[in-house]
Amino acid sequence: MRMRLAAAFALTAMTTILAACDAGAPATTAVASEAASAGASHSSVPGAASAVQVAAHEAGQSRAQVYESVRQMTALGKQLFFDASLSGSGKLACASCHSPDHAFSPANALSVQLGGSDMHRTGMRAAPTLKYLQSVPAFAEHYHESDDEGDESVDAGPTGGLTWDGRVDRGGDQARIPLLSSFEMGSTPAKVTAAVKAAPYADAFRAAFGQHVFDSDDATFKAVLQALETFEQTPETFYPYSSKYDAYLAGKTQLTQAELRGLQLFNDEKKGNCASCHISQRARDGAPPQFSDFGLIAIGVPRNRALPVNRDPHFYDLGACGPERTDLKGRAEFCGIFRTPTLRNVALKKSFFHNGIYHSLEQVVRFYAQRDTNPEKFYPVSKGKVQKFDDLPQQYWANLNTEAPFDRKPGDKPALDEAEIKDVVAFLNTLTDGYNAGGGAVNSVAAK
Ligand code: HEC
Ligand code: HEC
Repeated sequence: MRMRLAAAFALTAMTTILAACDAGAPATTAVASEAASAGASHSSVPGAASAVQVAAHEAGQSRAQVYESVRQMTALGKQLFFDASLSGSGKLACASCHSPDHAFSPANALSVQLGGSDMHRTGMRAAPTLKYLQSVPAFAEHYHESDDEGDESVDAGPTGGLTWDGRVDRGGDQARIPLLSSFEMGSTPAKVTAAVKAAPYADAFRAAFGQHVFDSDDATFKAVLQALETFEQTPETFYPYSSKYDAYLAGKTQLTQAELRGLQLFNDEKKGNCASCHISQRARDGAPPQFSDFGLIAIGVPRNRALPVNRDPHFYDLGACGPERTDLKGRAEFCGIFRTPTLRNVALKKSFFHNGIYHSLEQVVRFYAQRDTNPEKFYPVSKGKVQKFDDLPQQYWANLNTEAPFDRKPGDKPALDEAEIKDVVAFLNTLTDGYNAGGGAVNSVAAK
C-alpha cells in the first residue's frame, strides 16, 4: 500500500508561509481559508520559505518588505502567465494551455495542445492542472515520509517532482520548459526579454526586480521564471480548498447518496482502492487531502494512436526513463511510470492520463475497473489476441501495478460495476473548487 502524505513543497513555499501568517490574506470561504492555512502549516520542510526569510533578514528587509515583494512578483507573474507576446509565435501564453476556468488545464478536449512557431506542432502529453502543486515534494528515487506523516522506515519508491515524469523540482525550472520548447512557446531568453521590455508592465517589472533586471537577457529571463513561480503559489487561486468535499470534511455540508457511495467505493481497498494512491483523508495534523501521494506509478495506459509522435511504431513515451526526462535513461525500473496526479478539480478537465487518451471520467474509471477483466475494451485486438499494455514494451511489464483494482484476470468480476462507476464519478465531481455550502455565489478564482 502506498498510503502516505507528502509535506515538502516543490514550488517555493514563501508565499504560502507569508500569506498564511498574514492576517490580511484574502480569504475565500470560511472553509477554504481554514483549510488553506492547515495546508500551509503542513509544510514541515524548511526549504525555500526560510531561505527567502533568511535572505530578506540579511538584506535588512522587514517582513512587510518581503510581503510587498511577493505581492509585486505575484501580480507580475499573473500578467506574464497571460501574455502571449512571450512566445515565438506571439500567439501562445501559459494560459492558452492552462485555462483558469478549467483549474489551469486546457479549455479544449484535444489530447495534446498545439504550439510551436506555426501553432501546428504538438508534444506527447496532456497539459495537467496547475492547482495543488504546492504540496508536490521534490523528486526522490526512494521516498520516505517524515515521522509525523507516517512510517519513516517505509520506502515508497519514486515520488514527486513536477511534470508527468517528475523531471524538475521548482516552478521556475518548470516554466523554462514550455517557454523554450519548440513545440510549445518556442521562445528564447532574448525574445522573452524584448517582450517584457515592451510590455505595459515593464516599469512594474523594474520596480519589483531592481533597475538592473534588464541589463542582461539572462537576468530578465530568471526574473520572469521567478515571477511565474511566485504567481503559481497564490493560495486563493491555486489551492483554495473550496470544494464540496472540503465543506463536507469540515462538517458544513452533506454529500448526496450517490456521492457517499462513490466515496466509499473510492476508499474501499477491495473495490476502487483509489485512495491508496489518490489520498482522500485529512493528514494527522489536519491538513486537507491532496488526492495524490505523488508516487510515480505504471498503470499501463493504452497507447494514444491519435498522437502524431505515435505514428512511429518504435516511439514510446516511457515517462521517468525518457525520452523527455534524461537523467534516469537506461534505468529499466523507471520505465512506464508517471506521477499520480491530484484529482482535485478533475471534473473540469477534458482529457485524462499522461497521453490524454480518454475524454470522460466514466471512461477513466471503467479502465480501472475492467483493465484486467476485459482488456479487449481498452487495447487493440489483432488476430483474436488482445495487445495488452500496447504502450509499454514487454521488458518493462514488471513495473506495472498489480494491486486492486488491477489484481484480476479475464472472467473475474470487475472491481466496480456500471452503477458503481457512476457513483465514483459522482464523488469525483465533489472535488471541484468554488463550492459554496450556503448556496450563494461561488467564489471566483478566475485570474483574468
Ligand atoms: C502548448 C501548451 C502549454 C503551454 C503554452 C504551457 N504549458 Fe505547462 N504544461 C503543458 C504540458 C503538456 C505539461 C506536461 C509536461 C510533461 O509532463 O512533460 C505541462 C506542465 C506544466 C507544469 C507542471 C504540472 C505538474 O503537474 O507537475 C507547470 C507548473 C506548468 N506546465 C506551467 C506552465 C507555465 C508557467 C507556462 C508558461 C510559461 C506553461 N506551463 C505553458 C502544456 C503547456
Ligand atoms: C496504484 C496507484 C493508483 C490507483 C490505485 C489509482 N490511481 Fe488514478 N492515477 C494513478 C496514476 C499513476 C495516474 C496517471 C497515469 C498515467 O497517466 O499514466 C492516475 C490518473 C488518474 C486519473 C486521470 C487524472 C488526470 O488528470 O489525467 C483519474 C481520473 C484517476 N486516476 C482516478 C482514479 C480512480 C477513480 C481510481 C480508483 C478506481 C484510481 N485512480 C486508482 C495512480 C493510481
